[in-house]
Amino acid sequence: MPAQSSPEIKALVVCLGNICRSPMGEAVLKDIAQKRGIEIVVDSAGTAGYHVGEEPDERTVAVCKKHNVPIDSHARQVSTSDFVRFTHILASDESNLRNLERIKPSNATAEVRLWGSYLDNKPIPDPYYGGINGFEKVYEQCVRLSNAFLDEVTRTSTQTS
Ligand code: 4NP
Repeated sequence: MPAQSSPEIKALVVCLGNICRSPMGEAVLKDIAQKRGIEIVVDSAGTAGYHVGEEPDERTVAVCKKHNVPIDSHARQVSTSDFVRFTHILASDESNLRNLERIKPSNATAEVRLWGSYLDNKPIPDPYYGGINGFEKVYEQCVRLSNAFLDEVTRTSTQTS
């Protein structure tokens, strides 16, 4: 079976506020999967609720626009049902990974990992208090991590099907 047939993958990208890193990660992962012909569901959420309902940070939107990556999301907080609805939960950094592990329900089925663990174990640094350059770096990292994640999950689904 070709690696493209992977509709079983449902990934949730998680950061703190769900306005900077994870909406960009969601947009980039969707865009790259579509370009690679991989069927996947992607969403994003924050471990904190400070920005619930807000659109992504204008710097996240500007960087996505510059790279022609469509972005359209509103911030929401992670819920316990996400641990069952998604197959993979991708934490942007260790602090968010710890928070996810803390709220993970006993019936969780999702694999909860640092997104960087699919490539180099590096966290995605929080760009909120810095300039646009930090957002550009987050974008480049999201591209690398999206490809690494898709490489691994398509390899796994091909082996097991
Ligand atoms: P994010 O960035 O977790 O990448 O969405 C942040 C957004 C907001 C805050 C911190 C980080 N905040 O403190 O409000």
